[in-house]
Formats: sequence, C-alpha cells, structure tokens
Amino acid sequence: MQTQKSFFNTVALAPPDPIFGLVSAFQCDPRKEKVDLMVGIYRDEEGRTPIFSSVKKAEQRLLEREVTKMYLPIDGDPFYLEKMQQLVLGEAYVDRICATQTVGGTSALRVGAEFIKGQLTDEIHIPQLTWPNHKGVFLQSGMRLIEYPYYNHKTHTVEFDQLYSFLKGLREKSVVLFHAACHNPTGADLKIDQWELLADLFLKKRLIPFFDSAYQGLGEGLDADAGAIRLFFKRGIEMLVAVSFSKNFGLYGERIGGLMIASCTSSNLPAIRSQICRLIRTNYSNPPQHGARIVAEILSSDLRQEWEKEVEVMRMRMCQTRILFARKVNMAFLAEGKGIFCYLGLSPEKIESWVKNNAVYLAHGGRMNIAGLNEKNIDLVVKAFQSQ
Ligand code: LMR
Repeated sequence: MQTQKSFFNTVALAPPDPIFGLVSAFQCDPRKEKVDLMVGIYRDEEGRTPIFSSVKKAEQRLLEREVTKMYLPIDGDPFYLEKMQQLVLGEAYVDRICATQTVGGTSALRVGAEFIKGQLTDEIHIPQLTWPNHKGVFLQSGMRLIEYPYYNHKTHTVEFDQLYSFLKGLREKSVVLFHAACHNPTGADLKIDQWELLADLFLKKRLIPFFDSAYQGLGEGLDADAGAIRLFFKRGIEMLVAVSFSKNFGLYGERIGGLMIASCTSSNLPAIRSQICRLIRTNYSNPPQHGARIVAEILSSDLRQEWEKEVEVMRMRMCQTRILFARKVNMAFLAEGKGIFCYLGLSPEKIESWVKNNAVYLAHGGRMNIAGLNEKNIDLVVKAFQSQ
C-alpha cells in the first residue's frame, strides 16, 4: 500500500481529562496497595460499585414486561419525566415545567447550554471552583465563562458575602450556575437561609439560575438536597435544572438524566419544548430507554422504599467515613462537607507526589472521593496526607 501524507497530521493531542485522565495510570500501577479516590462514583466498604438491589428487581420486571425496543419520543419517556419532576420538585403535578430526558446529567447541561446560547445570552456565571467539565461543556457550546467567588480556602466554607455582592452586580437575564447540593469539588454547600437571600435577589434582579443536581439524596437527604431548587421554584423564578441519576440510582453507564426548564408562564412551554427537541434531535436524536424505565419503575412502585433505604445507606457510609478521616488527619472542616467529595486544595505537583510516593490517586485540586476510603486503605491515605 502506498503511504500518503495524512490529513490528520495536524491533529494535536488533547489535554487529559482532569477527572478520568489518571484512571488508566491507576489501572497500570503495579503496586498492590494503591487507592483510587478520583472519579465520583460510590464504592461500598469492599471498594465495589454494585448494582442496587431495587434496580436489579426493576430490571427483572422490565425484562418480563418489555415487548419492543422502539425509539422513545425525542423528549423522552413521559412517565419517567413525570416521576423525575416529582422527585426533584416534591410536587405531584406542576404545570410550569418543560421536562425532557437526557443522556445523563452532562447532556442536560449541554442541551441547556445550547438553549441558553440560542435564546437568552452567550454568557454563563459559574462558581470559581466547580466540576471541570462545566467549563468544557459551556465553552464547547460557544459560551463565555465568568467566574463568581465561591470558596474560601482558609475557612473552607462558602464565601457567601462575596458571592452575594458579585451576583448583586449582575444585569437582568444573567444566567448563574449552581450546584443544587454536594458541591463538586469542595463539598461546601450554601445554607438554606443563604439560598433564601439569593432567591430574593434573583426575583428582584431578574436573574436566571441553572441548577446542576447530580447528588440528590447523598448530602442531607432526598428532600433536603432538593431544597434550593424547590425554594426557587415556589417563588416562581424561571430556571433550568440539570438532573443526573448516575449516583443516586447507581446508573452511571445507563446515562440517564433530564433537563427541566421552569417558566412563569405555562403558555411558553410548547415553544420551549420545541426548541429543546430540535437540539436533542440534531445531537443524539432521542434518548436511550433502559435507564428511564428503571427509574420510573422504582419511583412508581413498591421498590421505592427499598431504593430510598439504599440511598440512605450510601449517605450514612459517606458521612461516617468523612468523620473518621477528618478525625484521623485532625482537620475538623473535612467532617462538615456534604456528599461524596472533600477538597484538599493541592497543587498538581503535590498530587503527583501522592501518586509517586503513596500510590494514592486524587482528582484535580486534590479532590478526594470519600467513598473510595475503607477500613483497609484509609491509613494509607492518612499517611500520604501526613507526609505532604
Ligand atoms: C465526577 O465529578 O467525578 C463525576 O461527576 C464523574 C464525571 O463525569 O466527572
């Protein structure tokens, strides 16, 4: 075969993903005692990420019932959408929401970003510390990122006064991204009275929140973790919500999530839905059905109670592990965080030295998946912490 000059010679290597980038290095690491605290997935005490028992049972039912693999509608399974909406908003019926099914939480953010860019503004305000993929998603959607103050590295809490005065200066129709609960990467959430102040501000200044809800149930509980969204919704604030069921149903690889857009006027909903459907149709055409059917089956049947218990078991294990680790390294603030992550604020060099010297793998900034700790490995991580 004649060799020819490739058109692809100019393709440059993309930088590694700040979260998934080190996973293959971890897998290839020959050391026996190594600890993976990178990707935000739940692990039990044995280090496994098992399928929930409620999910297995729902799948068995679906297998017996299922008669077709037909396409879902572009905007997803209507029964699933009703159940998703109820879980997030805590209300049986709402007429101010356009809910659509998406491919996990990431595509809810992406579809939402493209909708915002096409219909509202090309700027998005994001917390100074945030899930790195937020930046990627909004930039790839052609938006400009503006960071707002969020985290105080000294007190390890939300820098609320600075955050508030920054948002107070925004002009009408500005869009602001919030983590609904279990802030990724810091675990530092706003308190409910702070959300109330923000809701007043958003109403007065006519700002638009975009909530990313990826951890409902893993911070303070299923209702409490939706508290901010429900508060803004009850006040009639127009908003977007990206929902993921990767963590709280353990359905990571099923890619199941949703995008909700609340309008204060329900007559706007058909036009909103038509625009969202256009974005979905030209991207992945229509969503996959398996994850949606599992979630809908669990939320609408006797399996719900079992699922709620499974979520609570995960939550409690993470709370206890967090407290134990905080105590072992004598850092009380680590016990205060919510959800799956705690944040050590480490430089890339420090993270490298944890890998090199201790075989402990962290994500960007020294973000640590608390669920990756267990009785067998916690002291290795404590040792890495103490030797830095
Ligand atoms: C994480 O932050 O580790 C998770 O949300 C997984 C991901 O997609 O980045």
